[in-house]
Amino acid sequence: MTRAFWEDHHAHKRAVYPDEEVVRFLANTFPDAAARRGLRALDLGAGSGRHTVLLARWGFDAYAVDYSFRAVANTRDFLAREGLPGHVACSTLEAVPFRDAYLDFVLPWECLFYGDPPALERAVAEVGRVLKPGGYCFTNFRSPDDKHVEESEPLGGGAFLNRGEWEGVVFTALDEGETRALFARDFELVWFDRYLVTRRDRKNRDARWIVLVRKK
Ligand SMILES: C[S@@+](CC[C@H](N)C(=O)[O-])C[C@H]1O[C@@H](n2cnc3c(N)ncnc32)[C@H](O)[C@@H]1O
Repeated sequence: MTRAFWEDHHAHKRAVYPDEEVVRFLANTFPDAAARRGLRALDLGAGSGRHTVLLARWGFDAYAVDYSFRAVANTRDFLAREGLPGHVACSTLEAVPFRDAYLDFVLPWECLFYGDPPALERAVAEVGRVLKPGGYCFTNFRSPDDKHVEESEPLGGGAFLNRGEWEGVVFTALDEGETRALFARDFELVWFDRYLVTRRDRKNRDARWIVLVRKK
């Protein structure tokens, strides 16, 4: 159901403007263009590729994965229109098509929380598997005060079923301790933050945890 939602979503919407949090993170963490060149960076759950294009433009060896065929087609199209190289694959978050320790950086932005808690745990373990020791993961999670939680039906254990505009989408909302615990085994926490943004005349309220970790 969630997957069908995304196929339909990406047929109608193509986000092109990168998230300011991602731009800020990249600028602070990888400021040196020469040092970025050739680093393998994965836009995981890439959607229509707004961050894949950003990574390729900044000189990373850019990879993108999404399980929506439409998202994969949109990302390939976006890279081609910009004249940028990139490797784009259709796959789930829970079984990422890379060998162990292949990547320097993984960016699962606005995507790890789509699914129930066991799926989320498998996806975090996959990120750990494909990252090199010392490699970064920059990600975000929905927190319990996000507007979507109010609009959704609790399924238990932190999982919710969205109603209304996002009808049928399953997601997980975690508190701070639960979010930190996800990374305790395989990662060292670099920083942990949160943001709260309202949009569309305050009808939307995005409340997120932001997490930067390094693979142990
Ligand atoms: C809100 S979009 C975010 C897209 C992109 N990261 C961005 O910031 O624009 C979430 C994306 O995650 C993908 N996704 C959700 N669950 C997934 C899963 N289990 N496996 C692969 N992709 C998934 C969806 O297809 C969708 O493109």
